[in-house]
Amino acid sequence: MATLDRQDGARYYPVMIIIKSKKEIECIKKASNLLAKTFEYVKGMISPDVTTLELDQEIEEYVRQLGGKPAFKGYKGYPASACISINEVVIHGIPDERRLKSGDIVGIDVGIEFNGCFSDAAYTFGVGDVADESKKLMKTTEQALFNAIEVARIGNRIGDISHEVQQTAENAGYSVVREFVGHGVGLKLHEEPSIPNFGKNGVGPRLKKGMTLAVEPMINLGTFQVEVLNDGWTVVTKDRKSSAHYEHTILITDNKAMILTNSSLYEDK
Ligand code: MF3
Ligand code: CO
Repeated sequence: MATLDRQDGARYYPVMIIIKSKKEIECIKKASNLLAKTFEYVKGMISPDVTTLELDQEIEEYVRQLGGKPAFKGYKGYPASACISINEVVIHGIPDERRLKSGDIVGIDVGIEFNGCFSDAAYTFGVGDVADESKKLMKTTEQALFNAIEVARIGNRIGDISHEVQQTAENAGYSVVREFVGHGVGLKLHEEPSIPNFGKNGVGPRLKKGMTLAVEPMINLGTFQVEVLNDGWTVVTKDRKSSAHYEHTILITDNKAMILTNSSLYEDK
């Protein structure tokens, strides 16, 4: 079933947001569960000296062992299973020979396809000894994700999610990336609607039970401005200051949204 959401404000256009059936939700839950397991596995691999290519290969192997397919590989020509984004890299870092080193913060973003369903999640890890400044950036970005999920409820609107992320980030003195956004997810990797990390309360499509969404704040220490490197993928901050990224796949329910990609990474803290 699909719903047509009418235009509510200047920034929003009518979009088709898929309401998932019970059966589809079960499938998306399974894809999300495999992804949560993958992130628990990734945690054990984060250490100084590992290359991002090694991480990517281990992730791909693990996802396939679980019976899933890396959803990013080949998507619009993307060459790897994970996006691995160190420090000034905001998102879409392509795995290569670069080694993690103590003090880095590394965003890992993975999508899984399982039986035609999709999940998408990201987490920023600290490597070794991390400066307080970086820790605070990570903590605030994670908090922005959870604050956003808190308002992702039936009857609220996409703008409420956007506003919540922006408020959390800017109250802490950080900035939010404008050019890249969260999105619907589930039967494809990217579905309607777009979920900006900045905006006003009370605007945009209304949230309905059965929607599955990828909420993904990208928050910068310095300027909100970003640029894409010559490889056509790697997004870096213009001032080369650090950026953090967290993402969950969530399901809109009768009450608080259900976090489908939740894992012990969050409980451990
Ligand atoms: N998680 C990213 C997103 O939500 C997807 C990576 S794009 C890809 O947009 F091409 F690498 F798949
Ligand atoms: Co995403």
